[in-house]
Amino acid sequence: MRFPGSLFFLLLVLCLEGYGQTSPRATINFNQDWKFYPGDIQEASAANFDDTGWRILNLPHDWSVEAQFDENAAATTQGGALPGGIGWYRKTFRLPASASNKSVSVEFDGIYRNSEVWINGHYLGKRPNGYISFKYDLDRWLHYGAEKNVISVRVNNAEQPNSRWYTGSGIYRNVRLVSKNRVAIAHWGTFITTPQVTAANATVRVKTTVKTSRPGLRISIEYTIMDRDKVIATRRDPLYSVDTTALNTVDLTIPSPKRWSVSSPSLYTLRTRVFANNQLTDQEETTFGIRDFYFDAAKGFFLNGKPLKILGVCNHHDLGAIGAAVNVRAMERQLEILKKMGCNAIRTAHNPPATELLDLCDKMGFIVMDEAFDVWKKKKTSKGYHLDWDEWHKTDLEDQVKRDRNHPSVMIWSIGNEIREQFDSTGVAITRELTAIVKSLDPTRPVTSALTETVAEKNFIYRAGALDLYGLNYNHKLYKDFPVNYPGQKLIATETTSALETRGQYDMNSDSIRRWPKDGKTKLTGANPDWTASSYDNAAAYWGSTHEETWKEVKKYDFVSGLFIWTGFDYLGEPHPYPWPARSSYFGIVDLAGFPKDIYYLYQSEWTNTPVLHLFPHWNWPPGKIVDLWAYFNQADEVELFLNGRSLGTKRKQGEALHVLWRVAYEPGTVKAVSRKNGKMVLTREIQTAGPPAEIRLTPDRDLLKAGGTDLSFVTAQIFDKDGIPVPNAMNEITFNVTGGTLAGTDNGYQASPEPFYSPLRKAYNGKCLAIVRSPVKAGTITLTASSPNLLPKTITLISK
Ligand code: GAL
Repeated sequence: MRFPGSLFFLLLVLCLEGYGQTSPRATINFNQDWKFYPGDIQEASAANFDDTGWRILNLPHDWSVEAQFDENAAATTQGGALPGGIGWYRKTFRLPASASNKSVSVEFDGIYRNSEVWINGHYLGKRPNGYISFKYDLDRWLHYGAEKNVISVRVNNAEQPNSRWYTGSGIYRNVRLVSKNRVAIAHWGTFITTPQVTAANATVRVKTTVKTSRPGLRISIEYTIMDRDKVIATRRDPLYSVDTTALNTVDLTIPSPKRWSVSSPSLYTLRTRVFANNQLTDQEETTFGIRDFYFDAAKGFFLNGKPLKILGVCNHHDLGAIGAAVNVRAMERQLEILKKMGCNAIRTAHNPPATELLDLCDKMGFIVMDEAFDVWKKKKTSKGYHLDWDEWHKTDLEDQVKRDRNHPSVMIWSIGNEIREQFDSTGVAITRELTAIVKSLDPTRPVTSALTETVAEKNFIYRAGALDLYGLNYNHKLYKDFPVNYPGQKLIATETTSALETRGQYDMNSDSIRRWPKDGKTKLTGANPDWTASSYDNAAAYWGSTHEETWKEVKKYDFVSGLFIWTGFDYLGEPHPYPWPARSSYFGIVDLAGFPKDIYYLYQSEWTNTPVLHLFPHWNWPPGKIVDLWAYFNQADEVELFLNGRSLGTKRKQGEALHVLWRVAYEPGTVKAVSRKNGKMVLTREIQTAGPPAEIRLTPDRDLLKAGGTDLSFVTAQIFDKDGIPVPNAMNEITFNVTGGTLAGTDNGYQASPEPFYSPLRKAYNGKCLAIVRSPVKAGTITLTASSPNLLPKTITLISK
């Protein structure tokens, strides 16, 4: 979308002069109309550099995902087989004369990585960490009125490999321009806690840092807490600034608070207003929640006084076919899919997330384990963050905590994942240092680290004695004796499972388990030539387990406060156990396109009260083949299976088993499962043998989109036979065509699919693929057509409003 400079200028004038605003602060979306150059031009930092001819784009932007997969990519398949490199961004803008007495800054939510920023040719600084939010103050170098300003950003993701997963490249998160008066709340200058919460009332403690223009200024701060539009508490405090900073801590009381929980995530808003000489000079709104929680060594996690198992998944930050570029709808869709599965927690593996993800978790009811690092000083990849550790770790960790500590969803800080320093004595001092940094900024949440060294005496991060929670990765067999081996310690399974699955792929016998590779050294045996892994929950990385193996242990012990399964969604990179052309992971419960794998229904049957009966696999096999049919179910005692009307017997889950299995000689027709409780039918499921592909059907997740150019509709294209039966193994190539909006990407969830994500041509994989449609700037009608040789094409209409 082009956002004309003059319109931007007008908006800026209106904001800065306070029109239509209740706040004297202007926060302006600064994503539109950047110039981009894929390469390195050192002179591009200069104000008068001629960038005519550069590509014009809107942020957030990830240039890596715009490329083709490449076996020789420097990031390797671990990094998604996509390029890094160097890129430049420039944005030209004007400021009204009225802005000249303001403090103007630019806020970047995240640039991957090694960004350097200039304003009008003046160097503002460098930020190596690709996941951290930061800002620069611009006033000293700004022009006002007719003269233009230019921000130049150099992004260097050329030094590779610097990550164990796909990172994306560029200004892949949001950017804002913020203009404040000289007397204003500092950046991240509001900190809200709820030190005392009962059903009767809650104490809301607010710490405010105000920056002032001069010492000794008489100011006052007004606090208003709102429940939606209703004011429920208010107070005003006079104070004097010392130096140029004023600090204020106040308590407000809320009677009968609505407590935040995963099932009822109630939120409140704090409005803070600053007055200097009775003139309103700043206003800020902060969303917060009221909840109390603790971990107990014997009984696990408690939220608002009630025990709650943390049922979480780890996720990396990429959004599949649209790469790392932040998109709220894409994140919301992922969370919706996970919520329906019964998931109530997210671990932001292994870095600070986009703030929009935390906003969504606040609103939708997810507990967050907010993670800082995958490495400290000791490396995992040759060009990784360990090189920046000494100079940056303190600032990065402080900024993460200051940015995220008002989110009610955030309940655990993780200072690192499988950090090398757990194995040597340097781990002690660093653990203490990092924990102290976190505690100094937020004493209210526990600190953990995801550990793999399971012998207490040999684990120097544990031995530092500074962690509040013992974070155990994998090793589910050790849960049992944890209370004996770690007396009094509180346990969370920070990472589990690492099972491997490709949607719609089934390797018999389903009850023989593949551990790939067996010991990390020997070659992969029993692997499939087409780089697939079985969806029967019978393949796992050798350090992990099947889903059932771990979940059975977690559910057994109250002292295991919860788990974070590796992973909720497949992600780009780390295609263990396969080499090229595999380029995305097999670990997800949901595939890269967002289609649930069968294992999704195991969790839904265990984690929700929704009645579940999931029968698989499909029913299209070579005649006579012995096929294992599985069912996941809940709220029933037994399931009976029928093949072409004949009963193949009734099964009950045996012992700890979480599924039932029939071994059946295939014959075409219909298999049907019936679940019953006390003899009464609960649910039935039927799968029919499909004929050849005949038709494409399109199902959008939403058909009404917000105009504005950022909203998305995720449209499933599924292939059916002439009788309307889904064809489970259809691989037809589909061509997508969009009018009135744009095609943001296509995918089919297959980890070795060679088509680039931007391609309008996509082969269905096991019957399905996905088209992601982006709304236009304006209101109007969008059409999506899917066509394929020999299939009936399909067109659907979406509305942009
Ligand atoms: C873990 C690691 C994750 C991922 C996973 C794959 O050990 O923490 O980042 O690599 O293995 O199984």
